[in-house]
Amino acid sequence: MKTLQIKARATCLFTAAVLLLAASFSVALAGEAGFERSGANIEDTASLQRGAKWYVNYCLGCHSLNYMRYNRLATDLQLSDDEVMQNLVFSNAKIGDTMTIAMDEEQAEDWFGKAPPDLSLIGRSRGADWLYAYLRGFYKDEDGSWNNSALDNVAMPNVLWRLQGIQIPVYREETTEEGYTHEVLDHYELTTQGTQSAQEYEETARDLAAFLEYVGEPAALQRKSIGVWVILFLVLFTFLAYLLKVEYWRDVH
Ligand code: HEC
Repeated sequence: MKTLQIKARATCLFTAAVLLLAASFSVALAGEAGFERSGANIEDTASLQRGAKWYVNYCLGCHSLNYMRYNRLATDLQLSDDEVMQNLVFSNAKIGDTMTIAMDEEQAEDWFGKAPPDLSLIGRSRGADWLYAYLRGFYKDEDGSWNNSALDNVAMPNVLWRLQGIQIPVYREETTEEGYTHEVLDHYELTTQGTQSAQEYEETARDLAAFLEYVGEPAALQRKSIGVWVILFLVLFTFLAYLLKVEYWRDVH
């Protein structure tokens, strides 16, 4: 009888451990390998509001958000419909419309060599850390064209250069074990000052990354808060199941 009891207790502990592990994994998965953590937080409403403002001012001219409606933005970002209409809508769109754009795709391809993609799902496919790296990764190549350390030979100009300034790459020589020397990127040097300090620009990039992550999965806001209740329920349920088990086994003893 004793061993059975020990077994049941061990099962209980095991369940609790699995729950804890699952919770910590979901937190760990939030970052992608190889890129600096963006620190983007979709639960920071002020950050999402700033991100939305940057987005409509600097990005919506080229990139639609076809799956996002203005009134959904209003609800999730805790803004009134009027505030959204006044601060985030510059076209003749109505509050219930999706965030489409009028740009002609073929013409855009002529201009940039590539049509700017819809960014509704970019937060899911690339992740906030990549977006953060991309928005800080623009630099001027030797031939004067824009390039990007996160997306080589990028067709998009750095539309935020007035804020960020213009940076150029500085290389250093590195010798391999076999004796070959080659150039590797050492750091970026700001040749034209922007209106924002490096720290302020990091915040701008973080807000935009958070906004695009949110747009990629608006339901994540609810999912996360519901998740806490689900875990609480499971913990409570485990406790009840344990009490029930004690009750049943009392008669067996
Ligand atoms: C003048 C037009 C234009 C504006 C404005 C613009 N982009 Fe772009 N963007 C492009 C083009 C063109 C591409 C395609 C680049 C490529 O694939 O080489 C692109 C690509 C991207 C991508 C990469 C998509 C991928 O994974 O391939 C992201 C992310 C992006 N833009 C974000 C932004 C953000 C954020 C803003 C606002 C700060 C912005 N863009 C403003 C033209 C624009």
